[in-house]
Amino acid sequence: MTKITEMNKIKLPGDTITLNNGIEMPVLGYGTYLSTDEETRSGILNAIDSGYRMIDTASYYGNEAAAGEAIRTSGIPRDELFVTTKLWNTDRGYRSTLDAFNRSLELMGLDYLDLYLIHWPANRKQFGAGASGANAETWQAFEELYKQGRVRALGVSNFMPRHLKDLYETATVNPAVNQIEFHPGLTQKETLTFCTDNDIAVQGWSPLGRRSVLDSEPLIRIGADHGKTPAQTALRWSLQHGVVPLPKSIDPGRIEENTELFDFELSGDEMDEIDALPEARQGGHPDEVDF
Ligand code: A2P
Repeated sequence: MTKITEMNKIKLPGDTITLNNGIEMPVLGYGTYLSTDEETRSGILNAIDSGYRMIDTASYYGNEAAAGEAIRTSGIPRDELFVTTKLWNTDRGYRSTLDAFNRSLELMGLDYLDLYLIHWPANRKQFGAGASGANAETWQAFEELYKQGRVRALGVSNFMPRHLKDLYETATVNPAVNQIEFHPGLTQKETLTFCTDNDIAVQGWSPLGRRSVLDSEPLIRIGADHGKTPAQTALRWSLQHGVVPLPKSIDPGRIEENTELFDFELSGDEMDEIDALPEARQGGHPDEVDF
């Protein structure tokens, strides 16, 4: 995974890192959670204008059609964009996963995806001893889609080491990406180490902690020392941890602001100070969610 030494070579939001199957993934993505269709369309077009090349949506967000429309009409060749969507929890299982993938692709009007993610692991709270089996069956369908060339890379989201270890028991294609909640206040050390050790690239959702970073004193102060906003400071902190952030904004100015991350560097002490912020998880815990 990209470390700060290599991160210094990155100059543009569309610059890439190489996944474990050899494909290239941009170092910054544009998130679309809770965006309406119109916000999704205009947001993606603004993001592409600002240099983003990775677009992240999900079946659950209900905006795949709008996302696909923006991607298709952006004027950027399809193979210069990196498109991710996710399988929702009610579609787990071999046949239903294949059907859900077809539905997503049809809604988006695309003929392949760059990355398909299992949105949440089936957990023991809901599935008891059947949890690993449910994830394995879903993954079998993912592998089928990958072998058919309909998706260029496979991944998971919100998987902790125990869910990944279970998946490895039956997988013949290892996940290339794990997308987890990651921001100042949630460093996910154990998961990050496991992913790094197993050559899984990590993407961070809610990299601004759903705005919680914006009024954090250390982020304001450290950012100001670099002439940067707290949002930019949080995103740079992700990058220096080797985590690819997926900030969401519907505002053209903030969309642009969130790309200006490649002309400064946080020191080791500054990274440590941000790492030490008290834990503030914004979303659900993968072992606790009941959806
Ligand atoms: P808006 O869309 O009005 O810009 P996260 O990605 O952590 O979930 O955070 C997303 C939220 O943060 C959105 O509500 C978004 O609002 C806001 N946001 C995104 N970028 C910035 C920024 N650079 N400065 C302030 N707020 C931002």
